[in-house]
Amino acid sequence: MKNITPIIIGLVSLPALAYAAMPLLTTSGDTERGQEIYEETCIACHGPDGSGALPGITPDFTAKDGPLSQSDEVLIEHITDGFQSPGSQMAMPPLGGNDELTEEDVQAVLDYLKHEFYGE
Ligand code: HEC
Repeated sequence: MKNITPIIIGLVSLPALAYAAMPLLTTSGDTERGQEIYEETCIACHGPDGSGALPGITPDFTAKDGPLSQSDEVLIEHITDGFQSPGSQMAMPPLGGNDELTEEDVQAVLDYLKHEFYGE
C-alpha cells in the first residue's frame, strides 16, 4: 500500500492555507476595481507601467521620491480636485476627467497605483 501521509497532511493544511490567503484575496478585489479604473481613465496619460505616457509632462509613479511618496490624504485630494505643480505644462484633470468616479473609486485606484507601481 502506498504511503498516504503526505496526502493527509496536505488535506489538513488546506483550510489553514485558505485562511492565510484571505487578506490577499480581499485586497485583490479592490485592486481589481482599481485596475479597471486605471485602464479606463488614467492609462492614456500615465501609461501602462505608470512611468508616464507623456514624457516630461506626466510624472513617474515608480520613482521612490516621486508623487506616490506623498500621503494618501494629499493624493486623494489631488486626484479628486485636480492638481498642477508650479511650472508644469499640464494639469492633472479632476478625477482624470471622469466625473463618474466615486470616493471609493478614487481610493481603489490609489491603492492600485501604490500596489502596482510603488511596491506598497
Ligand atoms: C489628460 C491626462 C491625465 C489623465 C487622464 C490622468 N492624469 Fe494624473 N496627472 C496628469 C498630469 C499632467 C499630472 C502632473 C501634474 C503636475 O504635476 O502639474 C498628473 C499627476 C497625477 C498624480 C500626482 C499628483 C501629485 O500630487 O503630484 C496622480 C496621483 C495622478 N495624476 C493620478 C491619476 C489617476 C488616478 C488618474 C485616473 C483616474 C489620472 N491621474 C488621470 C495627467 C493626467
